[in-house]
Amino acid sequence: MTTLKWWQTAVFYQIYPRSFADGNGDGIGDFKGIISKLEYLSDLGIDAIWLSPHFPSPNWDWGYDISDYQNVAPEYGTLDDFKTLLNESHKRGLRVILDLVLNHTSDQHPWFIESKSSRENPKADWYVWFDAPPNNWQSCFDGDAWTYVPERGQYYYHYFMKQQPDLNWHNPEVKQAMWDVVRFWLDLGVDGFRLDAIGTIFEDANLVPHTVPMNLAELRRARELAKTPAEKEQVEKYWHDMFKHQWGQPGVHDLMKELRAVLNEYDGDRMLVGEDDDIAYLGDGEDELNLVFNFPLMRTQRLTADHIRRNQKERLTQLEALPVKGWACNTLGNHDSSRVYSRYGDGIHDAELARLSLALMLTLKGTPFLYNGEEIGMSDYIITDPTKLRDTMATWYYERLVNELKVGPAEAALRAGEMTRDKNRTPMHWSSAPNGGFCPTNVAPWLPVNPNYSDGINVADQRDNPTSLLNYYGRLLHLRKETPALIEGDYIPLHKTSREYFSFLRKTKSQAILVVLNFSDGRTELDFSRVKEIKGKTIRVLFSSDERILAGENPRKLRIGAYEVFIAEVK
Ligand code: NOJ
Repeated sequence: MTTLKWWQTAVFYQIYPRSFADGNGDGIGDFKGIISKLEYLSDLGIDAIWLSPHFPSPNWDWGYDISDYQNVAPEYGTLDDFKTLLNESHKRGLRVILDLVLNHTSDQHPWFIESKSSRENPKADWYVWFDAPPNNWQSCFDGDAWTYVPERGQYYYHYFMKQQPDLNWHNPEVKQAMWDVVRFWLDLGVDGFRLDAIGTIFEDANLVPHTVPMNLAELRRARELAKTPAEKEQVEKYWHDMFKHQWGQPGVHDLMKELRAVLNEYDGDRMLVGEDDDIAYLGDGEDELNLVFNFPLMRTQRLTADHIRRNQKERLTQLEALPVKGWACNTLGNHDSSRVYSRYGDGIHDAELARLSLALMLTLKGTPFLYNGEEIGMSDYIITDPTKLRDTMATWYYERLVNELKVGPAEAALRAGEMTRDKNRTPMHWSSAPNGGFCPTNVAPWLPVNPNYSDGINVADQRDNPTSLLNYYGRLLHLRKETPALIEGDYIPLHKTSREYFSFLRKTKSQAILVVLNFSDGRTELDFSRVKEIKGKTIRVLFSSDERILAGENPRKLRIGAYEVFIAEVK
């Protein structure tokens, strides 16, 4: 019997509600749509859902600008519909965590409307106000971080868009109001939260200006134009220096401890996962967050054996060093990043590489987070017409490119299309029907559907095809569930200098699982007979992405195919 908590054994699946399933035929995903797909998720082998923001929002940042924290967006349904979604999920053994945005609200939130109305109102100090911009700080979304409000004759601070004013977390009333929000959803029975942008909650108290000789738009452009490694390094340093006074400031750990204490008032091991890779957010291992994402793993152009090995060594060593050992959490994609299929593809072996990426997620030590659509191989869909962009950050950048940086409209459209997050948020493909079965034929979906839904990149076609990515995914998910070492086993890297393939063991007292992921197009023959955990034992194949007889193999001469995912038990 495992002593692990549910969030350590679970596989999480991120639902971007606007694009997941449209239940009422208006071109926008909703609760009814999600409810109709719960069976799909539990059959697939998913254990928990992370629901991206479902709150009322003016949608400047598609839900990450919240105007009411204790309600639901009307386009998604009613609060009762949400309760149904929660109950129906729980009935199927699916946990549900919500997105909690602490750093900022919408500028349409009643708190901000009140705060900006005068310098004397009861919420006057709920946001960060100054008579004049105290420095040159930038917002990471739309240029200047300070925006003027005539009613107060003052400027407010926003790390993200001007429609997302930062809350003043030094004010205890803000904290109380937000902990009430947290209790509201915990009382309804949600299983935890994914914490948005916790790193940016506090700013440098001395308001030290940045020293980068550019503004945000210029820096973005420099990033695009950087060619040599030295240029790239310089741009990344600038990026870091531009924002370093606006995140990672002291105080946030005490705050996370308080939040943990709120969750601990509830039964059921409610959990917190932070949108940050800093292991310091786990506190002593049990007094802050339960998980932080292993973002460094995904910050690479290519997933190589070397990169993964270095990443695992670093992360797992840090987690082990905590007073109460921390638990790993891996992901390769979300609503902010290019889709796995596109990002780690090479344009020729994309399908094979996608299978390797998914296998990596499900075999590494730690809780995996998958992003909706990954399971059918959805890829980025670049919007080339800037008038069709829905991501305000990209529209802003397009306009700056054309108007300030004098970049031609065609190139600007291309750059905006590449940098926008729209490309990885397009609607889910449920079938080969028009609009990918996401919404009715005669209805325009909120974002264009990637036309490749008609080439087999859809759930219905793949469900009927035993060799599809979807069925591959399902098999791997079920294998993981039935194989304790894949969930709780230690990670032991093997063949530590191999470049083409990545091999490792997952080992508990009673089970040892060998995983080989061949990231190259070459077949190879591997010798594991000198590995102490394998020496003198046999290898019984459990899973392979190749057509291979599931039988015993010789550890001295293990043949691995090009791009093969190979999983076996060592006995
Ligand atoms: C991180 C979220 O993942 C992203 O989508 C959002 O735009 C920002 N935080 C601001 O809330």
